[in-house]
Amino acid sequence: MILSPSKGCLTFSQCSRMAKYFHLSAKHLQNIELTQVRYPKVKRGNYASLTDKHLAFFESVLPKSRVITDATDLDAYNVDWLRSFKGASKVVLKPKTTDEVSAILKYCNDQVLAVCPQGGNTGLVGGSVPVFDEVILSTALMNEVISVDKTTGVLVCQAGCVLENLEGKVHEHGLMMPLDLGAKGSCHIGGNISTNAGGIRLLRYGSLHGSVLGIEAVKADGAIIDCLSTLKKDNTGYHLKHLFLGSEGTLGIVTKVAIQCPPLPQAVNVAFLALDSFEKVLSTFRLAKKCLGEILSSFEFMDNGSLMGAIKVFNLPCPVPENTPFSLLIETSGGNSKHDEEKLSSFLEEATNKGFINDGTIASEPSRINALWQIRESITESLKHDGYVYKYDISIPIQHFYEIVLLMQERLKDTAVVKCCGYGHVGDGNLHLNITSPKYDVDILNLIEPFVYEWTSKHRGSISAEHGLGFKKSDVVHYSKSAEALKLMAEIKALMDPKGILNPYKVLPSGAH
Ligand code: FAD
Ligand code: MLT
Ligand code: ZN
Repeated sequence: MILSPSKGCLTFSQCSRMAKYFHLSAKHLQNIELTQVRYPKVKRGNYASLTDKHLAFFESVLPKSRVITDATDLDAYNVDWLRSFKGASKVVLKPKTTDEVSAILKYCNDQVLAVCPQGGNTGLVGGSVPVFDEVILSTALMNEVISVDKTTGVLVCQAGCVLENLEGKVHEHGLMMPLDLGAKGSCHIGGNISTNAGGIRLLRYGSLHGSVLGIEAVKADGAIIDCLSTLKKDNTGYHLKHLFLGSEGTLGIVTKVAIQCPPLPQAVNVAFLALDSFEKVLSTFRLAKKCLGEILSSFEFMDNGSLMGAIKVFNLPCPVPENTPFSLLIETSGGNSKHDEEKLSSFLEEATNKGFINDGTIASEPSRINALWQIRESITESLKHDGYVYKYDISIPIQHFYEIVLLMQERLKDTAVVKCCGYGHVGDGNLHLNITSPKYDVDILNLIEPFVYEWTSKHRGSISAEHGLGFKKSDVVHYSKSAEALKLMAEIKALMDPKGILNPYKVLPSGAH
């Protein structure tokens, strides 16, 4: 029988999933091309330039140690995680309180200084770094947990708390965070909220629009909007918190959040399975929903290029044959280990008997589970090792899920492309199409875009399922949003940030700024 408990997995210390994403050495960061050079069509808005007078004000609000101006220190804040964008900010501000954020924004608004909010800087669309010389406002020191209510499961904290630290904190109370993602060791909850991050368990726990109960945010003019409700039910007028969810720092800076945390599951199982066709991936998904029902907590997909990239770059043991075309990581989480294991076994038996799955491994012990998850979560980082990553994050009707990867492989076959692969959250209809080449190549880019967006639009998909628009995708949003919807977005922006100081050049198409 092929489905045996996994062997040869990593030791616990190797696979703690505590990954933190450090930037390159100072020399490497200096060599990255400036965004304003790579994208010469984007023109700097009519904002003030930083002067000593501005710095003196910032140093009157914050201690000098929290006003960073050293050129080498600034590089790490100016460059994004993918190393695709580099701003030229001359200052990073690190407030600790909402009042400090408010004083900074009020001043920047009065002085017409543009501001780029930054959390853990793990965003994948160039939203978290400046395009020109915007002031960077980092939430790194806003990391206080305010309360955890054991009875209601509501966590209240500051926006700069690192997701993984929150996970550790709520575990102490028998709770878990309702979202999880590969960047958890670095990303902030405020960044998660500002991008409306999806992640690996959205299938089970839903989007942050459901689990975020309240938000405190500061508007561009410094006004503090206290919508930090911890109530499940609150129909007192417009649901303003939703404006900040997914607005990527263009409408306000999130300073505090209240989140509903589900109970920590008592039993978790993971199956890592090999399949030989995408049709079988879909058949297995239908069967998993039928057989596993409420205990299904993840249904993650990777093709051979994605899997083997992670295995080779990080020298991980491969739980399935190395030539397997498609792999699935299926997780169950529930309250009764015997019941859950029985359900998983009968699902796997039926999937095997029906010929859906060829091979695989199962794990119920934490170190083995982590080792299997590490493979899936290492894919993103492994791609960077090829050089430049052209990253697409689309949602499409599930029957078309893998077609675009095959179309792109064919379209790019005579180019310098290293890899064209697909992975993602099948359970949410969310594909990550990734293409790599040794360095940024505009000819390759022109073969990919706008083709990928036109194809997605033709299938009534979304050109950004979970990563947001940031700088990278603001000018292609019309493939997913109507002209009237975009007009309303611009009107909301003008109402909340009339001088356009908050994260300019992001989210809204360039004509709308
Ligand atoms: P940043 O990158 O710092 O900022 C992201 C955006 O939010 C920027 O526009 C920034 O200006 C704005 N912002 C940040 N903080 C605030 C604030 N307090 N107030 C207002 N605006 C703010 N994303 C997913 O959706 N699902 C995944 O599964 C996933 N996996 C990932 C795995 C890896 C390895 C990596 C590197 C990234 C992954 N991401 C994923 C993308 C990224 O981690 C998420 O978008 C995350 O939510 C960003 O959080 P952050 O704190 O790093 O925000
Ligand atoms: C993931 O699902 O791994 C993340 O969204 C990051 C990525 O797209 O690479
Ligand atoms: Zn994802």
